[in-house]
Amino acid sequence: MADSTPQNWRASDEFLAEALVGRDSALEAALAAQDAAGLPAIEVAPVGGKLLSLLVRIGGARRVLEIGTLGGYSTIWMARAIGDGGRVVTIEAEPGNAAVARANVDAAGVGDRIDIRIGRGEDVLPRLVGEEPFDLVFIDADKESNTLYLDWAARLGRPGTVIVLDNIGRDGEIVNERSTDPKVIGTRAGLRMLGEDPRFDATALQTVGVKGWDGFALAVVA
Ligand code: DHB
Ligand code: MG
Repeated sequence: MADSTPQNWRASDEFLAEALVGRDSALEAALAAQDAAGLPAIEVAPVGGKLLSLLVRIGGARRVLEIGTLGGYSTIWMARAIGDGGRVVTIEAEPGNAAVARANVDAAGVGDRIDIRIGRGEDVLPRLVGEEPFDLVFIDADKESNTLYLDWAARLGRPGTVIVLDNIGRDGEIVNERSTDPKVIGTRAGLRMLGEDPRFDATALQTVGVKGWDGFALAVVA
């Protein structure tokens, strides 16, 4: 048995990506552009991007909301899966990130399906009230605001809307109820909300791989 080390998690994850995801020049170019622009490499792993695309397809989603665009990597995954006539609305607080994402999604050929709204989630989300409900919401932004984003996901969704909340593992720090790290506090609060708020039915899975020890929560709006 291989030792459970970050290096071996990475090797297994790279094998899974090679076997199940394959190389993709548009996605690789998006990551290269993100890196060249100095953005952090905190996008989802290739197997995570593929999972998002499968969830879009399985649910037949036509409208996707993403909170936290970064360089548009996960945005491209979901926009491809949504097909013609579908729409991804993605919120990004940093205008510089949004510019990188805009160039990336256009270069990937899916820019016409993607609406990048620049601003903080707390300011942009209320402006989406009155639009058609979202079928899937991917929350991948500042962890401090997870409960705010989950509340909006429920309000902007409908019964059956799928919610994916990224980064619930945080190197095992989620068990640390005395943590003073705002990201850990926000992650724990989001998980408690998913468990206690009757608007959600949820679970969470830890992952190890190219992004270390982390995970995601999966929920459906009741
Ligand atoms: C962080 C944020 C992410 O969305 C991620 O996937 C990994 C790390 C962070 O802010 O630390
Ligand atoms: Mg993330």
